[in-house]
Amino acid sequence: MDHIKAIAFDLYGTLFDVHSVASRCEEQFAGRGQEISNVWRQKQLEYTWLRSLMNRYIPFEHVTEEALRFTCRHLGLELDERACRSLSDAYLRLQPFAEVPDALRELRDRGLKLAILSNGSPHSIGAVVGHAGLRSSFDHLLSVDPVRVYKPDNRAYELAEEAFGVDRRAILFVSSNAWDATGARYFGFPTAWINRAGKVFEEMGQRPDWELTGVDGLVKLFGTADSSAGNG
Ligand code: LAC
Repeated sequence: MDHIKAIAFDLYGTLFDVHSVASRCEEQFAGRGQEISNVWRQKQLEYTWLRSLMNRYIPFEHVTEEALRFTCRHLGLELDERACRSLSDAYLRLQPFAEVPDALRELRDRGLKLAILSNGSPHSIGAVVGHAGLRSSFDHLLSVDPVRVYKPDNRAYELAEEAFGVDRRAILFVSSNAWDATGARYFGFPTAWINRAGKVFEEMGQRPDWELTGVDGLVKLFGTADSSAGNG
């Protein structure tokens, strides 16, 4: 792994659990929390892709809110403005997956530069990472906002190459979202797919270079801190 100098992480679903909003949904709509969370996330992603295709970018938190409004109408649930605000705000306080804080520290100890590259707006990324106390784990928090197009557009992945100032082949891209890992690999990043739930990968002509069950799997890939001391 000596050729890898930096790691760019997807945020939602990779480092932070998007379904941690399910309990807030459950408080609001008893018995429907997980269902709302599932439809909401899927619709949120679809809207990012559609808006990119239509050249109609709006910031991610607005996409998230539109997706929530759709979800509740689709499921026949009445969403008043207060509930809409409170559920959308829950997306700013997602929980990191349990292994993430230690794994980030260990990767930094190995001399690697770390960034988040997310569809989230600068405000959303800053809020989620700050709430979890993980701001100092990252060299860069990169939002697609400056290029006004969502992943998997190449212009989004380019942001990581620019920020790290190294060739894309030296940047490991890490995502639990198979579509995102596919896009990143087409762009030219070596790619690790975090597959916590035993899902199948996309059938779009790419395979990840590594498939791991958690972010801690990366630490093993990079070996002990001593053996990769020359990696910075
Ligand atoms: C992100 C979404 C796509 O963090 O998971 O960019």
